[in-house]
Amino acid sequence: MEKEELLQIRNLSVDYKVKGGYLSAVHGVSFEICKGEIFAIVGESGCGKSTIAHSILRLLPDHNEKISGEINFQGQNLNELSEKELESVRGHKIGMIFQNPLESLNPVYTTGKQVQEGLLLDNIPKQEAWNRVVDLFKDVQMPDAERRARSFPHELSGGMRQRVMIAMMLGRNPDLLIADEPTTALDVTVEAQILRIIKQLRDERNMAVMLITHNFGLVAEVADMVGVMYAGEMVETGTVYEIFDHPSHPYTMQLMKALPRITKKEGRLETIRGAVPKMMNHQKGCRFANRCIYATEKCWSENPPVHQLSETHSFACFREEVSTCRK
Ligand SMILES: Nc1ncnc2c1ncn2[C@@H]1O[C@H](COP(=O)(O)OP(=O)(O)OP(=O)(O)O)[C@@H](O)[C@H]1O
Ligand code: SF4
Ligand SMILES: [Mg+2]
Repeated sequence: MEKEELLQIRNLSVDYKVKGGYLSAVHGVSFEICKGEIFAIVGESGCGKSTIAHSILRLLPDHNEKISGEINFQGQNLNELSEKELESVRGHKIGMIFQNPLESLNPVYTTGKQVQEGLLLDNIPKQEAWNRVVDLFKDVQMPDAERRARSFPHELSGGMRQRVMIAMMLGRNPDLLIADEPTTALDVTVEAQILRIIKQLRDERNMAVMLITHNFGLVAEVADMVGVMYAGEMVETGTVYEIFDHPSHPYTMQLMKALPRITKKEGRLETIRGAVPKMMNHQKGCRFANRCIYATEKCWSENPPVHQLSETHSFACFREEVSTCRK
């Protein structure tokens, strides 16, 4: 079946104003997400994943950043929409769930009422909206859905609250769901359950998902496409098979080698030696050079070229050989 592009990011760069200049949080990032596809963005803390997510819905702090590039969604460049026009995209066509659901839920209303509120915006009669809330709670596999809909956020576990957030977004029937580390506050078993629910909902509704996560292990299970971020750049993109079977960028290869240790340590990618550099926007060269075992002099002074290995698989590096295993 022919794939239909839904979101297209072209050459996105975001610089935050910091003491001493601009910090290059995202640099020249391009990728696309097709209808019904789960695109996972993986990478260590501080590599710019949330900055990309927030750029899409214009949720950046506003006063201290420079943004350039195109964010095309259903054929419209979101960067060119007025604040009012963007309102009709937020929540409705693109839904977003965040890392900590407690911060996103209002403690003084029951969870069901908060989900119902979103449905009432679409002029659905009150009782019908409530029945849909209960159905949505069942869709996200909330145990004892009816009772939980009448509970307050503090009465629910972290995993249940995250289910409420997903139900809230699903109620608006978005074409794209952005999930920014929806499971990091949860334990490993609940994390796997939530990601499987997201995948099942995608299968049922053909909704696209941009999934941001540290957990490379779960990515293999739920994602179709993977973008590997390093220090603000997307250094490798490919289908989940291409990334896991033929990791080609030295950073992705190191992530793969660390995989058994990663899953034991609750999936966090913290096992690679050295630290991610903070990039100021005037710096040249490969951002991975200080941690790369293949680095040569050129890597420090010139920007690496992009190699296109297949229609879907590309990586940016001076090294051309392609690894074929993940020992
Ligand atoms: N408002 C801001 N002002 C200045 N710098 C910022 C701001 N927000 C983020 N940064 C910096 O931008 C870089 C990217 O941050 P971002 O939050 O996008 O990373 P991330 O990949 O989502 O990390 P994490 O996995 O920890 O959530 C980091 O170096 C961060 O310190
Ligand atoms: S460009 Fe050089 S430093 Fe960067 S990943 Fe490739 S070999 Fe390593
Ligand atoms: Mg983040």
